[in-house]
Amino acid sequence: MKRIRRIQVNGRWREDAVADNTLLIDYLRGPLQLTGTKQGCDGGECGACTVLVDGKPRLACCTFAASVEGCHVETIESQSQNGRLSPLQQAFHERLGAQCGFCTPGMIMAAEGLLRRNPQPDEAAIREALGGNLCRCTGYVKIVESVQAACGAEEAA
Ligand code: FES
Ligand code: FES
Repeated sequence: MKRIRRIQVNGRWREDAVADNTLLIDYLRGPLQLTGTKQGCDGGECGACTVLVDGKPRLACCTFAASVEGCHVETIESQSQNGRLSPLQQAFHERLGAQCGFCTPGMIMAAEGLLRRNPQPDEAAIREALGGNLCRCTGYVKIVESVQAACGAEEAA
């Protein structure tokens, strides 16, 4: 059944008619046109669809939009401000954490969730936080280095 639901997305409250069975990824990429959130496996395996729900990483392909009514959803589009890349985005760019880039939005949102609860994670914590995010392009070294660099950037900011 479709109902008007109030969901905060990237800091703005929205009211949209959303069916009970609409997945969060389809709500974000469809009516909201927030296509930065990527659809990889569509089955909870790859992490490409990771967004933050009330500050915590969540797989948008395994979450009903109805279940986040009243919550704050943050997508990769919330990272840059006034055309400026976030420290994580900048670090992924500079440290070659993004190769084909398909996994990058999910990686960055998972890393963002980590840095909010642990601003200075060690390598093991970074690898654990990104453990559910698969990248087909790399051995993850550049990705981990990117997150480490972003910690330094955030510290210096
Ligand atoms: S698309 Fe959601 S985990 Fe792969
Ligand atoms: S950069 Fe290509 S899948 Fe990760």
